[in-house]
Amino acid sequence: KIYPVILSGGAGTRLWPLSRAVLPKQLLPLVADKTMLQETALRVAGRAATSAELMPPLVVCGNEHRFLVAEQMREIGVKPLGILLEPVGRNTAPAVAAAAHYLKAIDADAIMLVLPADHVINDVDAFHQAVERALVMVKDGSLATFGIVPTAPETGYGYIQSGAGAGAEQCFKVDRFVEKPNRETAEGFVAAGNYYWNSGMFLFRADAYIAELAKFQPEIAAAAEAAVLKDYRDLDFCRLDEAAFTACPSDSIDYAVMEKTQHAVVVPADIGWNDVGSWSALHDVLPKDANGNVTRGDVYLDGVQGTLVRAESRIVAVVGVKDLVVVETNDAVLVAHKDQVQRVKQIVDHLKTKD
Ligand code: GDD
Ligand code: MG
Repeated sequence: KIYPVILSGGAGTRLWPLSRAVLPKQLLPLVADKTMLQETALRVAGRAATSAELMPPLVVCGNEHRFLVAEQMREIGVKPLGILLEPVGRNTAPAVAAAAHYLKAIDADAIMLVLPADHVINDVDAFHQAVERALVMVKDGSLATFGIVPTAPETGYGYIQSGAGAGAEQCFKVDRFVEKPNRETAEGFVAAGNYYWNSGMFLFRADAYIAELAKFQPEIAAAAEAAVLKDYRDLDFCRLDEAAFTACPSDSIDYAVMEKTQHAVVVPADIGWNDVGSWSALHDVLPKDANGNVTRGDVYLDGVQGTLVRAESRIVAVVGVKDLVVVETNDAVLVAHKDQVQRVKQIVDHLKTKD
């Protein structure tokens, strides 16, 4: 059986000022009418079983978002397998580990399909075909990644060097996994041609992930296990033990496991993927007018090109500029060049130091 595990814990700081700690990007309708979390759940919920049964999703999120998450699932008629609540964010390695222990207790042979809650996938059928191909590989304990053909030397992604065929169709051994390389290294990878971007989605047996994590980050493995053993359930919620989880070191699955494991495989996935990690990425995925502009809300444009304007609470007028991002909310306004939107993250860091 495949258990989708939806990670809904990030802060989405590069989409400030719309994405906030109380309402991060995955809980917002950024791309479609439904929120990104809802879109993610609907991508897997109610799919007919292929060679393995696809179970209802397990959502992992911060305790403070529990009611929003539960309400958003109810709105789309998806009954989750459970909602696992983190008392504090410890990044993805512990979140996935807690989910792995939770699932292993239900089903010793559980296979986890780890899904970030904030991605766009345009070709859902191709996505399910990729999962199906990966499934063949993970039964023996391999950890499967889904590779996206890189289009630019992005430094915010993991890079996967694919090696020899891994015994199944369109499935390769991972020779090397490099998380967030610097610009120069990323340029080398893109030029080399045999590198994929890591999509951030994974398929593996729960016990295989736990075994690899215990090898490389035993403290995380132990803390996550302790946090689930002392769980506290009510309704769909399952609270992780606060003391145990708070004591857990913070690390991402990419650094903690994927860079180090010898058992990774990659399934190339041409699925119309975009992680909508920044305002320029959002501009890329949304439909544009004849001048390449994307607008939302009460917006007036004159002589504007290639610009994204989002007005939440006031009229926003933009004149005679190109390639900007203008985002207005009731308490903050962002104006940035589209090439510089990665720096939005620093605004949030700066604001935090002022609190
Ligand atoms: N539950 C929970 N708890 N979820 C979390 C936490 C946490 O503490 N931290 C992050 N997440 C969720 C985010 O909401 C997101 O959906 C997903 O996990 C990935 O986290 P990001 O913080 O967005 O990771 P990243 O974008 O820097 O890098 C990852 O994704 C890239 C592709 O988008 C890596 O896997 C890269 O290798 C990959 O290329
Ligand atoms: Mg991300």
